[in-house]
Amino acid sequence: MISITSPNALEAIAKEAKNLQIYPDQKSTLLREALAKKFGLADGNIICGNGSDDIMQILASTYLNPGDEVIISKNTFSLYELVARIFGGRLVMVGLKDHALDLEAIARALTAKTKIIFLTNPNNPTGTIFTAGQFDSFMKKIPENVLVVVDEAYAEYVESKEFPDTIKFVKEGKNVVVLRTFSKFYGLAGLRIGYGLAKKELIAPMFRTKMPFNVNRLAQVGALAALGDKEFLDKTYKTNVEGKNFLYPELDRLGLDYKKTESNFIFINLKKSADECFLAMMKKGIIIRPLTSFGFPEAIRVSIGTKEQNEKFIAALNKPG
Ligand SMILES: Cc1ncc(COP(=O)(O)O)c(C=O)c1O
Repeated sequence: MISITSPNALEAIAKEAKNLQIYPDQKSTLLREALAKKFGLADGNIICGNGSDDIMQILASTYLNPGDEVIISKNTFSLYELVARIFGGRLVMVGLKDHALDLEAIARALTAKTKIIFLTNPNNPTGTIFTAGQFDSFMKKIPENVLVVVDEAYAEYVESKEFPDTIKFVKEGKNVVVLRTFSKFYGLAGLRIGYGLAKKELIAPMFRTKMPFNVNRLAQVGALAALGDKEFLDKTYKTNVEGKNFLYPELDRLGLDYKKTESNFIFINLKKSADECFLAMMKKGIIIRPLTSFGFPEAIRVSIGTKEQNEKFIAALNKPG
């Protein structure tokens, strides 16, 4: 994780702090206009939330009725499951295939009761993607009444040219909701701001369900400033690519089994206790994520950091205990 925040965002937030006696804009108008321009959409295609977590909850509260089926992949980000449960959805869990989302199996899990499908691309915690070709054939199998939510929290890190253009489906009027966030690439996780992109007919009801002031003033101005901070964004992308180029040969040298990533973290299968590795690394001042709670008790997720952080991690991994 290159967790340095956009300097432009920090400056905008500091300036906005003097206006905190005023309620925020309920519609995050300026930010939605900027996002609309960036993606070639209208502002009616965009809703902002208190993190993309908030958009997931708004989605479920707007569209999910008790007993509706929600298809989710196993061993991935847990929040889809939580929101589905809160609103009485019936979970249909589909396993990964070779540590990646199995779109064919997900399509086979469809029933007349399916309401929402959650897809994560790139996937957390494995860093894999499904391609444009795979998504195209998947969408051909999905009935009109099913909502396909594609969580692209890590999209800005993707290098692969095969990453799907999901916004094309939004423009075509399909039942696709794309989720994005300022928490990862933009380094603003503590600010809590994310957004959803979808056709107007899907977004408008969500505005009626959300809490009026769900996005605070600082988040609105901070995100807007970060969005235009090209120098910071280019640097973040470059540092992540350089980190991968350093870490892959080092992990090969150590004989470790890992997945090539399209994100800002690497999934490493240690083939021994991830929790023990976590404790050993903590003693060396390094925090890694043991993936026990994701259902991988022998794997860890390591954020790609700065050159110094990556070197420190490899040195620590070299000398366990
Ligand atoms: C796949 C995925 N989606 C969404 C989120 C949450 O993002 P936000 O901070 O915007 O709520 C995370 C955070 O870890 C994530 O990994």
